[in-house]
Amino acid sequence: MPNGQIPAPTEGSPTFGALESLRIKQLEEQASALRTSVICAFNQLLDLKDLNTGVHSTRLAEWGMRVGQELGLEEAELQNLEVAALLHDIGKVGVPDSILRKPGRLDPEEYALMKKHSEYGWAVLRMLPGFERAALDILHHHESFDGKGYPAGLKGAEIPVVSRIVCVIDAFDAMVSSRPYRIGLPYEEAVRRLNEASGTQFDPTVVKSFLSFAQAEMSPVFAAAGTSVSSAL
Ligand SMILES: [Fe+2]
Repeated sequence: MPNGQIPAPTEGSPTFGALESLRIKQLEEQASALRTSVICAFNQLLDLKDLNTGVHSTRLAEWGMRVGQELGLEEAELQNLEVAALLHDIGKVGVPDSILRKPGRLDPEEYALMKKHSEYGWAVLRMLPGFERAALDILHHHESFDGKGYPAGLKGAEIPVVSRIVCVIDAFDAMVSSRPYRIGLPYEEAVRRLNEASGTQFDPTVVKSFLSFAQAEMSPVFAAAGTSVSSAL
């Protein structure tokens, strides 16, 4: 068989059922492999733009899956969560480096441009068949639980659950990570800030779930920051 493809079976032949299910299985495997390749390619693009972002995204995917499983998300939602956690900031490719890498505070005009990244990410990913839902989750990853976020100002359960999860773990990871111009916050301070904004910026259920395992996950984060969990605590 050329390229290992199962030939389309002729209806009515004795092997029709078996061949058809084999063909469907093969098509499913091909679709899944293509999906993985797209995720990897975009993730590499993030690495090219800023290496830390790629590492940060992989970590977020691991944390996100744990929260998602604990909150009882269905398999399809977990798959979208993995994509959204890995690629939530893909739209930053469209934000000028002068803004992305600015060490100080952004002025209002720069901040308005930076905020566009969630829409940029949605605009790109929604064009890929199978990524439409994850694109929407990415669009809303900066919504705030009290409705004061962007781009749509959605509130509470109006915000997709995947977006609410990415929002919490993204904020936490950003707080404890070191940047060229600043050292990451100690674990306890980041937890304090997360709890402080629980119910306003963040979904309290997601915060509670994340904090139930967060401390045990911190070693690699603090190792990357050049410190250790115990010294940072
Ligand atoms: Fe973002």
